[in-house]
Order: sequence, then C-alpha cells, then structure tokens
Amino acid sequence: MIPFNKPYMTGRELGYIAEAHAAGHLSGDGAFTKRCHALLERLTGSGRALLTHSCTAALEMAAILLDLGPGDEVIMPSFTFVSTANAFVLRGAVPVFVDIRSDTLNIDESLIETAVTPRTRAICVVHYAGVSCEMDAILDIAARHGLKVIEDAAQGILSTYKGRRLGSIGHLGALSFHETKNVISGEGGALLINDPALVERAEIIREKGTNRSKFFRGQVDKYTWIDVGSSYLPGEIVAAFLAAQLEDAESITAQRLAIWDRYHQWAHAHEDGSRLRRPVVPADCEHNAHMYFAVLRSLEARSNFIDRLRQAGIGAVFHYIPLHSSPAGMKYGRCADERLDVTDHVSERLARMPLWAGLEPQLEFVVDTATRALAAD
Ligand SMILES: Cc1ncc(COP(=O)(O)O)c(C=O)c1O
Repeated sequence: MIPFNKPYMTGRELGYIAEAHAAGHLSGDGAFTKRCHALLERLTGSGRALLTHSCTAALEMAAILLDLGPGDEVIMPSFTFVSTANAFVLRGAVPVFVDIRSDTLNIDESLIETAVTPRTRAICVVHYAGVSCEMDAILDIAARHGLKVIEDAAQGILSTYKGRRLGSIGHLGALSFHETKNVISGEGGALLINDPALVERAEIIREKGTNRSKFFRGQVDKYTWIDVGSSYLPGEIVAAFLAAQLEDAESITAQRLAIWDRYHQWAHAHEDGSRLRRPVVPADCEHNAHMYFAVLRSLEARSNFIDRLRQAGIGAVFHYIPLHSSPAGMKYGRCADERLDVTDHVSERLARMPLWAGLEPQLEFVVDTATRALAAD
C-alpha cells in the first residue's frame, strides 16, 4: 500500500528527545522551545513565534488576542478545515463564508469587500495547499475597514508571497505541525505575531493568563493572573522533536517540490485532454509542495479515480466538505452570498495524490496507475 501521507523523520528526533530528557526540563518554554522559536523566526521572518499544541490552538489564541466576542464577524472561506471557523465560534463570533477563486482555490479577494458589515472585525485567510492568497488586495481592504488579518498558514510553512513568507504577512499567522504537514511534531503548531503591539498579551494568553514568561526572563519578581488565557504551550519533548524537523525544513521542502513537479508534468497531458485541471501557482507566489491535487470533471469521475487508485494500493483522497453546508457551519456561521458555487464545484471534484518525502521510488508507479485510472472513464 502506498499511503496518502507518511511522516518523514530526519533521524535526529530521538536524540533530541533524549537530550530534553537528560536536561530534566520537560514542561514548556525550555531550551528546545527557545530553539524552535528562533528557527521559526528565521524561517518565517516573523518578529515573534510562539509554539502551541496545534494550529487550532494558535487560531484560538488569535481569537482571544483580537478580543473577538459574541456577534463579531470574521470573513473566511468555507473551503477550509473546521478549526479556521471553530476557533472564532468558541468566542461567540460568527464566521462569514466567502467563495473561493477557481484558480488557486483561495478566498476570492474580489468578494471580500461586499461581505464587510459594521460587525466585521477580522479576515481569516487560508493559504490552500501552501499557495498564497492575494495578500496585497486583502491587506488593503482590511486597512480601509479597520480589520485585522489572520493567516491560517497551517499548510504554508516556507511558501512565499512577493518574497514574504506565509504567516508573517497579516497581523497574526498560524502554522500546523500535525503529522500530515511538511514539518511535523505529531500534533503541534505556532502562532506568529507580526504586530509587535500584540506580543506581550500573546505570551500571557498562552501561559494561562499569567505573566509567567516575564517572570522567567527576570522582568518581574513574581507572576500572577492578569488576563484571560489557557494552556497553549507544548512540553519540551514535542519541541525537541520539532527542532530536528525545523532544522531540515528547507531540504524536506525541496524533496517534496521534486515530487510535486513530477505530478504537475504528468497532469499536463491530461489537462490538455480536459480530464482534469491542474493547480495554479500565481507568478508572485512560491509554494512549498504541501499538496498535489487535481480537479476532475465530475463527482463521479473523482470517485472512480480515487477508487481505481485505491484498488491498486494507492491512497488518493478527497478534501474538505465545505463548512457552509456542514451542520455546525449552518448553525454558527452564514454565507456572504446566496451561493458559494466555486466552493461546491471544487469540493466535489478535487482529488489529492500521495505526497511525502521518500515516495520517489514509487512515484512512476503512482503516475502510471493514475493515467490508467483516468483513461478508464
Ligand atoms: C487550513 C487548516 N487550518 C487548520 C488546521 C488545523 O491544524 P492542527 O491539526 O494543527 O490543529 C488544518 C489542519 O489540517 C488546516 O488544514
């Protein structure tokens, strides 16, 4: 069986975990966490990175940090993972779903402004497949309406928009290190704080609402409860694992890009024959090969394609069920427009191919089987 995802190991993870164990500091914010923060700040260009338990946790921190509350509206795509919306719904805020562009499958920036109401407080963009949203247009709308911009960069580590790394462009960015991502720690994430005015409070929210981070730096002589917060920091074992991965982030990305490029070359012939549509990466974006997907002709064609690959032992999968038509999405959110046609169209037709560092020896088998699976229709 060729799985859809296989976690990549650098080989140094266990050694680093043994080091953390020997150091005897297993709670959060020890030497490995600090190493991860420094690596992330270097890799993303963000002024401040804070490790969290997950991207979900980073998004929840963002919602608290921006003081979002009941009735506040957050504009976002419906074509995303539940956490993009859930993090804000937990604060009582309302996700307002906007359709996506048919090329990048990212939020359609031309539809954002008409979705703004007097209750809109923020825009949460999602960089699908590690390809950037049209950030200049989005930042411009946000500035004109006094909105905050949160980048859900769960899939976007090391990708760039006009040379800037994803997650470092909006006020806040959220990364995921879930084992399905390019750089992993099992479960894990980080909040990138690009607005310096938000850094101090972010540290407090992450440390159960206390100023413990300041205490550890010797900036206050005792720590106390000063704000709302929760426990968002992972322990040192997770940080040790992640440090090994972050050190190799660039080489992991390069390996994935070679696989992505092969898929893209394979898909070209079938695009000409209009059996599928390939991913589009705009000229001013560099992507991180987080995902290779194809949009097929119909739901039936997609189901047949995935079934045929599975029969050959290849794990191809579909992706998001749109949030606007999910039970919780209908209860807690609303659509900006009557219909989200591109979202509905794409979610029924998109198939994702296996993509992981180490797949190379089996890649030709995968593309040959995929060719046969398409031709059988
Ligand atoms: C766009 C997006 N946002 C958020 C998440 C949640 O990430 P995590 O599992 O680290 O909480 C994911 C995970 O797949 C995602 O794809």
